[in-house]
Amino acid sequence: MKFANKVAVITGGGSGIGRESCLKFAQEGAKVVVADYNEITGQETVDLIKALGKEAAFTKVDVGDFDQVEAMVQFAVNTFGRLDIMFNNAGIASPAPLLEHTPEIYHKVTRINQDGVYYGIYAAARKMQELGNGGVIINTASVMGFLAMPNGFSYNVAKAAVVMMSQVAALELAPHNIRVVGVAPGFVHTNIVNTLKEKGMEDPIAKKHMHGEFLNPNQIADTVLFLASDAASGINGSTIKVDDGYASFK
Ligand SMILES: NC(=O)c1ccc[n+]([C@@H]2O[C@H](COP(=O)([O-])OP(=O)(O)OC[C@H]3O[C@@H](n4cnc5c(N)ncnc54)[C@H](O)[C@@H]3O)[C@@H](O)[C@H]2O)c1
Repeated sequence: MKFANKVAVITGGGSGIGRESCLKFAQEGAKVVVADYNEITGQETVDLIKALGKEAAFTKVDVGDFDQVEAMVQFAVNTFGRLDIMFNNAGIASPAPLLEHTPEIYHKVTRINQDGVYYGIYAAARKMQELGNGGVIINTASVMGFLAMPNGFSYNVAKAAVVMMSQVAALELAPHNIRVVGVAPGFVHTNIVNTLKEKGMEDPIAKKHMHGEFLNPNQIADTVLFLASDAASGINGSTIKVDDGYASFK
């Protein structure tokens, strides 16, 4: 039980990487706040955790709205009395070529993928500092935060910002015993990549992973749990690629 008596808040907990992380944190003893915009899938994750005999609670959040993010953090403290782990993971994709990448698309994506992560870091760090127990903040970036890809302008830009957010926040929060790290997945079988399948783009992208296929959400979640654990106490400010080599070869 790596996380006994710890409280973890996970955004995007209703699906994909977030849901898998919720389940694994709960299995390792954490009390989990499942936070998602989608009430149905978020509540489903809570039900799955409770079916394992573990503790969880759902709170609805739009991570692009600071007041709601602050309320989510307060909900965790009100419900479970602590805040130890904040996983800023919710995200969307809205691919479009740059010449058709309208301000609406740009702001829709950066509002959630970039502003949302800042709000999560800011709200969680302030609450952790107030509670005085330290903590760990983990942010989901992407290999797209390191590599350019066609049609991904706003997504890539937001993910690159998340990489730097982890670095700066780690530096500033270390005196408060708060570690900040990032995880950068390659392509993972989740809903966010469904449009790639529809467009027949899955195979060429899959081939860029060393095993020739997309990753599974549990591979990302395993790394997130490691990063949140004391075993990773020497990792601070880094964004760890979990990409099956995607960013390592051409
Ligand atoms: N799947 C991939 O290939 C891949 C690769 C790299 C990074 N990522 C990142 O992983 C993270 C998780 O995505 P996923 O792959 O599990 O996709 P997913 O679509 O399965 O899950 C995303 C979750 O975020 C929630 N969400 C969306 N907008 C929200 C908002 N405004 N407020 C709160 N919740 C919101 C959705 O309801 C959903 O439950 C994202 O940040 C994504 O960019 C995914």
